[in-house]
Amino acid sequence: MENILVDVQVNAAIITINRPKQLNALNKRTIEEINHALSTLSKNRKVRGIIITGAGDKAFVAGADIKEFAHFSKEEGKELARSGQEKLFDFIEHYPKPIIAAVNGFALGGGLELAMACHMRIASENARMGLPEVSLGVIPGYGGTQRLPQLIGKGKAIELITTAKMIDAKEALQYKLVNYVVSLDELLPKASEIIKSISHNSPTAITAAIKSINVGFNHRENGFEKEINEFGNCFGSEDFVEGTTAFMEKRKPNF
Ligand code: CAA
Repeated sequence: MENILVDVQVNAAIITINRPKQLNALNKRTIEEINHALSTLSKNRKVRGIIITGAGDKAFVAGADIKEFAHFSKEEGKELARSGQEKLFDFIEHYPKPIIAAVNGFALGGGLELAMACHMRIASENARMGLPEVSLGVIPGYGGTQRLPQLIGKGKAIELITTAKMIDAKEALQYKLVNYVVSLDELLPKASEIIKSISHNSPTAITAAIKSINVGFNHRENGFEKEINEFGNCFGSEDFVEGTTAFMEKRKPNF
């Protein structure tokens, strides 16, 4: 791996995007590498959640790599967005284990889109977020036009996208764009603490919950119907037997 670091800890794996001189901008190679790391980690049963963060204390990710796409044609632009969405952004949203974005500085354009594709976001006090693409003559291409309104509502999303304005961590918390704001030192410990709590619960049920929640935001399918199916599918799983048996035996489950 050239552009990322992967650190597997007790319950969580930390993926650090490691191009600090370019403020961790997402080029094609970095997208491939994160996809590869996540694919490998999905098979590691000890990893119960993933944390994605940026190297250094200035940026999470300052966007898609502008230098890489500046001369792209219309077709190349479409392909950049399509392949990026498939390989990274949709892949993260539908990942079977919870992924937390630990936003440690600038999260702009593709960087905020990456954080929004994750299942949860925690920001450090110095974080600055925005979708400045229209200031470059382009629009968000990694899902930002869909996920920002889902998270903060249509009116505020249109304001942020059309003004290309950056917001600070406090404002992001106020709009519910992030779950928590903590000091930079507390950022990774807070994310690890959430994954530790998650690790007490059934991985099978967690995957089913993520799938059901996601369907609620996909207008091609009915979220309640999906929930019924995923709920039913939990019955008979080893985790369900262990979870319900432990409850009745008045002990903690061992998943
Ligand atoms: N792509 C490529 N390189 C980037 C980058 C990006 N998105 N963001 C920063 N860099 C590079 C800079 O070019 C600079 O490199 P050099 O030293 O080699 O010139 C280095 O990182 C440091 O950046 P600055 O000197 O600009 O640092 P600063 O502190 O003065 O400013 C900043 C910080 C406000 C974040 C500024 O770098 C900036 O505005 N970056 C671009 C943000 C942006 O527009 N992001 C959206 C990208 S488009 C997109 O993401 C499309 C999509 O949805 C698919």
